[in-house]
Amino acid sequence: MKRLLLGLTAAAIAGAGAVTAQGTGPFKMEIMARQGIMAYRALQLGVLGGMAKGEIAYDAGAAQKAADNLAASAAIDESMLWPKGSDTTANPDSEALPKIWEDGSDVGERHKVLADAAAAMQAAAGKDLDSLKAAMGPVGEACGGCHKTYRKAD
Ligand code: HEC
Repeated sequence: MKRLLLGLTAAAIAGAGAVTAQGTGPFKMEIMARQGIMAYRALQLGVLGGMAKGEIAYDAGAAQKAADNLAASAAIDESMLWPKGSDTTANPDSEALPKIWEDGSDVGERHKVLADAAAAMQAAAGKDLDSLKAAMGPVGEACGGCHKTYRKAD
């Protein structure tokens, strides 16, 4: 089970695309800013996931820093960054699916799931490696779960 969850996390990270600055659409800044926040999350998750998988030696201070950063990234007010019309159909630089803005979208709840998982990671990461590993699955699922529904597959 743990291995499966770690695999999900790895898949979320592997989906990372480069932040491109060539966009010309009306929502260029908004799209760049939200992609930058996502890339920042992936960077912190890379540290935590690397330790969970044993690819990086566990270091309580570094783990705590990454978890603090992840939680901080989830607390940023993104209300300006997701204007209607900034989806991938009109903005090829974006991978945001129009579903985000459709009736019945649960994207807000999914963001809350990430914030909760990041808070749990924040409480666990600096304790010991086992605590970090246990908190990893929910974080990976929070990223991957939202991407599966609301982000265009590569
Ligand atoms: C509430 C939904 C949601 C959650 C939670 C979420 N993402 Fe995303 N993510 C998206 C969407 C939508 C995009 C596409 C944004 C765009 O291209 O405009 C995206 C894009 C990305 C990208 C690509 C950025 C780029 O440069 O184009 C990365 C990397 C990423 N997310 C990582 C993460 C990680 C890591 C987590 C968890 C710690 C996470 N995301 C959580 C919705 C989410």
